[in-house]
Amino acid sequence: MKISVIGTGHVGLITGVCFAERGHQVLCVDSNAAKIRKLKRGEMPIYEPGLKEIVARNVKAKRLSFGGSNGDAVRFGKVVFISVPTPPRSDGTADLSYIEQVSRDIAKNLKDYRLVVDKSTVPVLTGERVKNVITRYARDGVDFDVASNPEFLREGTAVEDTLNPDRIVFGVETRRAEKILRDLYRNFKAPIVVTDIKSAELIKHASNSFLAMKISYANALSAVCEKAGADVGEVVRGMGMDGRIGHQFLRAGIGYGGSCFPKDVSAFEAISRDLGYDFRLLTEVRNINRDAKEWFLRKIQEELWIVKGKKVGVFGLSFKPNTDDCRDSVAISVVESLVKMGAKVSAYDPQSHKSAQAYLGKKIRYARSPYDAAKGADALVLLTEWDEFRNLKWSRIVKSMLHPTLLDGRNFYDPKEMRQEGFTYRSIGRP
Ligand code: UGA
Repeated sequence: MKISVIGTGHVGLITGVCFAERGHQVLCVDSNAAKIRKLKRGEMPIYEPGLKEIVARNVKAKRLSFGGSNGDAVRFGKVVFISVPTPPRSDGTADLSYIEQVSRDIAKNLKDYRLVVDKSTVPVLTGERVKNVITRYARDGVDFDVASNPEFLREGTAVEDTLNPDRIVFGVETRRAEKILRDLYRNFKAPIVVTDIKSAELIKHASNSFLAMKISYANALSAVCEKAGADVGEVVRGMGMDGRIGHQFLRAGIGYGGSCFPKDVSAFEAISRDLGYDFRLLTEVRNINRDAKEWFLRKIQEELWIVKGKKVGVFGLSFKPNTDDCRDSVAISVVESLVKMGAKVSAYDPQSHKSAQAYLGKKIRYARSPYDAAKGADALVLLTEWDEFRNLKWSRIVKSMLHPTLLDGRNFYDPKEMRQEGFTYRSIGRP
């Protein structure tokens, strides 16, 4: 099938590439010409394991191409995916101006039937708006369907998640749209949920907000554990064995970040409010998430007493491991607070120095290695749990630090082992 993807961000690019991998003819377009030039040269705009190889393979097989206008996308694909950003406004609501602009471009170029599918994460009722915009700006009587097909990929495992999803959701209004989507996903092995567009839109916001809530639950629990002298790791281990609860997304830490959870929780809360329901549970999810970071900063202060002038070594800057994405990264936010308090920060991240610079500029030193970050430090702080930080030569690090204090923001290390290595060690909700 010929399909087009408008917007080559994390979701759009990976969606397009994975459809090509499953045998479709895919055109990916983007308003950012520099990004398209890069993709044409075989350079990836983001770091994502396996992406470069799968792009190269599909370009070579002539199933995947990049570039052109939104009009070209409409002419090329029978199915046109919209995967443009829906960034947060200051009041938490999602800014849907890119979606509206793309919908108008689609309308203007519509000559015969197209299935317009929304992939971006959008508030409920957006599909209805997209349909209205296309109806208003397209030639009279031109045939199209609108559908919602939310994406559930995680950064860092995006290719694998997209090729082998847990479930596929179709929000459709017609049999024809359902049939096209079923054909499109024929080579994917996953249960398919077919529902109306509004419910499909809600499945996405509700899923992300629920996962964020699980994390905030674990973080609130960690505060109680800390006060009681219990171990949050043990508590969630016991909880997770209940099949109704499960083990995932119960890791306590400095809080969730990234380009999805913070934005989606706020947007879901905002659309609920607009619809007349005050979703206070989500307000508290956000509060606990903010507190998680503050609790951790307080621990650093307790250890260093006066932060000003102290050297702090930092492990990790991206919002989670295996990605160079620093958007809404709690790690970046912790470093910003440390810098504000007057700390001299030397940070190391395996992939994210370039992207971190957009936020931190020259306010910190970018270290060459974990050892370089720790050298001469008054304290070492782990903010993102990259595998590379697992098996280090700890005796070398302990010796090189001014004082071997380790604050673990992700409960990544074993407290006993780290203390045996000679660290003053603190983590989240564990004795
Ligand atoms: C998230 C969802 O997991 C995807 O299903 C969804 O498709 C995506 O958002 C999206 O809407 O596009 P992602 O943002 O890539 O994916 O990252 P996650 O792996 O979900 O992690 C989010 C944050 O939660 C990270 O900062 C991570 O460190 C934190 N986290 C995760 C915890 O603090 N504790 C946990 O137990 C799990």
